[in-house]
Parts: sequence; C-alpha cells; structure tokens
Amino acid sequence: MNTINWSELSFGYIKTDFNVRCYYRNGEWSKPQVETSEEVTMHMAATALHYGQEAFEGMKAFRGKDEKIRIFRMRQNALRLQSSCRGIMMAELPVELFEECITTAVKENERFVPPYESGAALYIRPLLFGTSAQVGVGPAKEYTFLVFVTPVGPYFKEGFKPTPMAIMREYDRAAPLGTGTYKVGGNYAASMQSGVKAAKMGYSAVVYLDAKEKKYIDECGPANFFGIKDNTYITPKSTSILPSITNKSLMQLAEDIGMKVERRPVPVEELATFEEAGACGTAAVISPILRIDDLSEDKTYEFCKEGQPGPISKKLYDKLRAIQYGDVEDVHGWVTIVE
Ligand code: PLP
Ligand code: COI
Repeated sequence: MNTINWSELSFGYIKTDFNVRCYYRNGEWSKPQVETSEEVTMHMAATALHYGQEAFEGMKAFRGKDEKIRIFRMRQNALRLQSSCRGIMMAELPVELFEECITTAVKENERFVPPYESGAALYIRPLLFGTSAQVGVGPAKEYTFLVFVTPVGPYFKEGFKPTPMAIMREYDRAAPLGTGTYKVGGNYAASMQSGVKAAKMGYSAVVYLDAKEKKYIDECGPANFFGIKDNTYITPKSTSILPSITNKSLMQLAEDIGMKVERRPVPVEELATFEEAGACGTAAVISPILRIDDLSEDKTYEFCKEGQPGPISKKLYDKLRAIQYGDVEDVHGWVTIVE
C-alpha cells in the first residue's frame, strides 16, 4: 500500500481491502455484505459461465482539494445496470441498494482513493451475474451483485494526449438489434480479436462502424465517439452503442458553454470535416483522437495536426474534471459526497 505511486498508476487492478456483495435468492435481494476475499465461488453450471448472463458498470470516485470524496453520477449507473439486467433477463437491483453498496465499497476502501494532486481516481466496478445451475438456455434463478474498487490512472497510456485509432471493417462489435446498448460482458468478448489486433498495430482503440451498413460511426472500443466542428458537439445516435454517462455529461457541458449539440448518425466520411475528435467514457475520460486510419479503405483522417488536444476538447475535459474533483460548483447535481 505504501508503495503505490499514485501519479504513475495505469488502468490496472490493485488489491484493495474490501468488496461488497448482495445475493438474489427466492425472489429477494439480501442486505449488502462486506467481504475481504477476492474470490467468487459458484456452481459450474452457472448461467454467467455458459451463457454470458453477466453485466457490469464502471464509475469513479475522486478526492478533492477539500479531502472530500465525490462519486460521479452514481444514479445513472444504477439505472443503466437495471437496463442491462432487463436486456439479458437478470434480476434487477434496486437503485437504493446499488447506491448503498457503492458508497460502502468506497468508504471501506477510503485509503485507496488517490490524493487530489495525483490526477488519479478510484475506479468502481460493480458486476451482476447469474449463479444458479441451468443447462438449457434460459435465465438463472439466483444472482450475485458484487462491487470492487481499485485505484487507476488513465485508460489509454497517453492520458489526455492525442492517440491513434483504427477502423477495421472486417470486425463487428454489436448488432443493431443486439446487446450493444447494454453493458454486458459478451460485447467486450466480441471486441477482443479486433482490439488486440489493433493494439499490435499501435492503435489504442478500434472505431467500430454500424454493423449493418458500415456507413456510420458507432463507438471507440470502450468509449463513445464525439466530433467537433463549427462550434457544434456531434455524437453518434445508434442502436448498437452504450449510452455513455460521460458523453451525456459532455453534451450538457457543451451546451453550457454555448455550443450546439447534435446526436445523430455520423457518416464515416464526415470524419474529414471535424476540427477535433475524441473518445469519452469513465475510464477514457476524454481521450483526444490523433487520427483514425480506415485500414481496408486505405484512408486517414487527422484531427490534431500539432499533436496537441484541440481547444474545445481541452475546455470540456477541464470542466468535467473540475466538477468531478469538486473544484467548481456542481450545478447539475452530478456528484455524491461520501460522508
Ligand atoms: N462505450 C462502451 C462500450 C463502454 O464500455 C463505455 C464505458 O463504460 C462507454 C462507452 C462510456 O460510458 P460511460 O461514460 O458511462 O463510462
Ligand atoms: C468504463 O469506462 O468504465 C468502462 O467500463 C470501460 C471498460 C470496459 C474499461
């Protein structure tokens, strides 16, 4: 613990003291239980293992200059987890129980919330999965909800520096009427072949296109996409992407600084017209995109000609971080202070 170099943290797992669990049995959720074990025991025929009946969330807690710990938009994650549960027929966790488990996990591991100056944060990973035996394809009767936390630095090694991404048209991540709008494990398994291939080629993420027509931008691996032009924040509307809470927040912040916001299908060719582009998410925060190579079309779209983040991405990044770390007033009511 004493050896954590907060400002050098990457996005990895570091053991913390406690995790919090709730169990769904006989139609009811148990009270939260605080555990020290990092292990999970379940039946070998659990639906999570065979049929991917698993969903997760990703959120962060931040230590402010005032030493207070703030959790960002927790209720939104609770609601999105409920949506994922409906999507793959798991028992829904009540919002209040979700919030109690998250705040307990953060409080119990308070000493792992990175100091203000480090720029790092405590990543919170809630997950919910089917644990009871089921050999025919169908939903489990029993579920576990678990929250662990781990201190993290930037998701992409560049941090807030422009990073290259690639379009790989020979891969899809999620189908238009599939599970892309849910945060379920299967979507991430489906992205691994392309993700690993892209990483080997030096790209930090794959920019997926819509799987049906390959005409429109979907999202950037584990983050949503946005482009900026003519004082407008433009982000894809698609039935196969995750509704990002960071993106929703950035749309609000863009409006707050007098920009227009458009959420609509974004044709690939429109990339050529953007002054700035970025990937956004809890882990990615804003990762400015240096360039996007459309590999099989042999086309390149460049965004940060001087290798620096664009001015609007920088402004939005600073505004978001200021709210998360408590440097400015939380006018939208986005943070929960852990008492
Ligand atoms: N898209 C995908 C596929 C993700 O995994 C994430 C991360 O959660 C996001 C977008 C960003 O969502 P959020 O801003 O809610 O973290
Ligand atoms: C997040 O941004 O919280 C995510 O869940 C992305 C993750 C898959 C690393």
